[in-house]
Amino acid sequence: MYKAKSNRYENMEYNRVGTSGLKLPAISLGLWHNFGDVDSLEDARDIIFRAFDLGITHFDLANNYGPPPGSAEANFGKILKRHLKHYRDEMIISSKAGYEMWDGPYGDGGSRKYLIASLDQSLKRLGLDYVDIFYSHRFDPNTPLEETMRALDHIVRSGRALYVGISNYNADQTSTATEILQELGTPFIIHQHKYNMFYRELEKGTDKIIKAENLGTIVFSPLAQGLLTSKYLDGIPEKSRVNSNSAFLNEKDINGGYLAKAQKLNQIAQDRSQTLAQMALAWVLNNPVVTSALVGASSPQQIEENVATLDNPHFSGDEINKIDKILNSK
Ligand SMILES: NC(=O)c1ccc[n+]([C@@H]2O[C@H](COP(=O)([O-])OP(=O)(O)OC[C@H]3O[C@@H](n4cnc5c(N)ncnc54)[C@H](OP(=O)(O)O)[C@@H]3O)[C@@H](O)[C@H]2O)c1
Repeated sequence: MYKAKSNRYENMEYNRVGTSGLKLPAISLGLWHNFGDVDSLEDARDIIFRAFDLGITHFDLANNYGPPPGSAEANFGKILKRHLKHYRDEMIISSKAGYEMWDGPYGDGGSRKYLIASLDQSLKRLGLDYVDIFYSHRFDPNTPLEETMRALDHIVRSGRALYVGISNYNADQTSTATEILQELGTPFIIHQHKYNMFYRELEKGTDKIIKAENLGTIVFSPLAQGLLTSKYLDGIPEKSRVNSNSAFLNEKDINGGYLAKAQKLNQIAQDRSQTLAQMALAWVLNNPVVTSALVGASSPQQIEENVATLDNPHFSGDEINKIDKILNSK
């Protein structure tokens, strides 16, 4: 069993999720990449230990994380069972269902059948009786929203999850989902949305609903999968997501337009005595609707660098204007 650092809660900030009683760390860790069966279990374990030692209490999963799908939950379950089980009550563990997970008509989407069966599989892989937060991973246009939301409600009432959330729902879908869940009295507290300096859809209406409905927001890919770090400024490192046959990030993303912006942003970060990764995380956390920045990591050192963001989280008006000018440039 692992003995975590006794000072782990001293430097992390914990932000309330909307008006709920739950707090999340300003920086959370996601297990989308680097925790599958294709990765080293020892490396995965070391990243989780470092994160927990630095006050990261929230670990975000989904049924399909791996590869292969399901293996990130199984590996996290192994690490938890072998090393961290005694800290279960100090952790917030989440999972999701919504993308394709198994063959046939019941392994994808937002039906009651899929969500409940998938969470039961996730709990087995994780070795848990319940997850803290369970998400509908995406809106399903072929299932009545009422059915998906009632499934979330049932999941809480049956003891499989403590709270529920939605992810990748647009402003209108968020608004209707909120109405249904409020009517049902479901502890719906959080929206998981992509948000970073290069991707600002959240600011186009969903943020207003989140605020009006007193929800929290956890933002994924706050580093644009590594583009908002100094990693690619001098070429493509061998060990990097771009170089890993990722379907979501590739060489084409490291183009002249990107590099020009990243170099300028990097200069502002340096003037703030920060790395670009730290400035990018401080920037998302500077948005008042953001509860937590959900990062990924391929090493314990990245976690250390990312958590040190909290040493310099504030921006002057001048810095914000300069950043906006760079982001809005062609
Ligand atoms: N709800 C959804 O639909 C959805 C979708 C996507 C993600 N998510 C969640 O959000 C989490 C984070 O997503 P993400 O991995 O795209 O987030 P991200 O934080 O934008 O990117 C993480 C990647 O950036 C690189 N990196 C991180 N810190 C670094 C640093 N300090 N210096 C240099 N490189 C650094 C690493 O890649 P290298 O391998 O190149 O080192 C790392 O794997 C996921 O794990 C998942 O839990 C949710």
